Amino acid sequence: MRRARIIGTGSYMPEKVMANSDFEKYLDTTDEWIVTRTGIRERRIAADGEFTSDLAVNAARKALDMAGLTPTDLDLIVVGTITGDYPWPATACIVQDKLGAGQCGAYDLSAACSGFLYALNNATALIEAGNINRALVIGAETLSRIVDYEDRNTCLLFGDGAGAVILEGQDGDQGVLSTHLHADGSYLELLYQPGFGTAVTPTEALVRDRGYFLKMQGNEVFKVAVKMLTEVAQEALAKNDMTIADVDLLIPHQANIRILEATAKRLKIDQDKVFVNVDKYGNTSAATIPVALDEANRSGRLKDNNIIVLNAFGGGFTWASACLRW
Ligand code: UT7
Repeated sequence: MRRARIIGTGSYMPEKVMANSDFEKYLDTTDEWIVTRTGIRERRIAADGEFTSDLAVNAARKALDMAGLTPTDLDLIVVGTITGDYPWPATACIVQDKLGAGQCGAYDLSAACSGFLYALNNATALIEAGNINRALVIGAETLSRIVDYEDRNTCLLFGDGAGAVILEGQDGDQGVLSTHLHADGSYLELLYQPGFGTAVTPTEALVRDRGYFLKMQGNEVFKVAVKMLTEVAQEALAKNDMTIADVDLLIPHQANIRILEATAKRLKIDQDKVFVNVDKYGNTSAATIPVALDEANRSGRLKDNNIIVLNAFGGGFTWASACLRW
């Protein structure tokens, strides 16, 4: 069977580190609260003049290098992001130009923290159908630009970063075995950016009253996230006639260590089979999974024929999973 196989991974995290102690200086919070409630110790912040497309391009170059390809070898670029350089054109088009990737198709997918898995699903389907052969799939965010740094409920959770994979069509058993997408738009107001878009009139008051920024009801999001992350991982296993014992590594969306632990417990998977880097980067939305995948890959944690499950949950709500044979 024709499968989409990951032949290169790459990631890029901005240099600037924002530690928990930086929030202690001006907000009513403590390093202890942040670490205990979220597992996050620090996050990366894009430099002035550094945009989502720049982060994406840096990650993409590393993935292309690993794959031994040049940008003109690509048939498609898909970027999962909710913090594109502009509302339009797509950040993928900017990435294509900055990379020098010729005139291949390029578009963004907006599925918040599930954006990378939605993009992976999309590119995989096109490869399996024979429509394209090589795709660059990216998750990239500069959430620091939409986070309200006066809001202690949200600002310390999020960070910036980008991860990328190169998918290639190959015959055989290795590659993306299945992907699973879900959404429930009725949860809109639990996690969204209410002050940006054509539903909103941009006014000075909107910015002054901090309406522009990301809003989240963390507690409510937490409960649904654990449930859906568990169910969508189980769906991927069932689809492939596998049990949790078959899984070599679970790479979940990195939002909060307590969400990761609660999901692992429900799935009955050992914590040492769950990839965690939320302590270093916080929640980078669509970037968390491809960044984690790249770190796992480069550290030698992914072995030939390993079964890897990816699962994500985010604004929309959206949730998704993928099962890979490495
Ligand atoms: O990527 C997918 C989308 N996002 C997520 O998955 C995030 C999901 N939610 C979460 O991760 C957690 O709900 C949070 C980390 C956001 C919050 O943790 P929590 O355990 O749900 O805390 P809480 O909102 O129930 O607040 C507990 C207490 C409250 O005080 P009282 O009412 O008990 O007196 C908050 O006011 O902690 C207080 N609090 C803080 N205290 C110190 C809230 N934020 C802070 C803070 N520092 N930064």
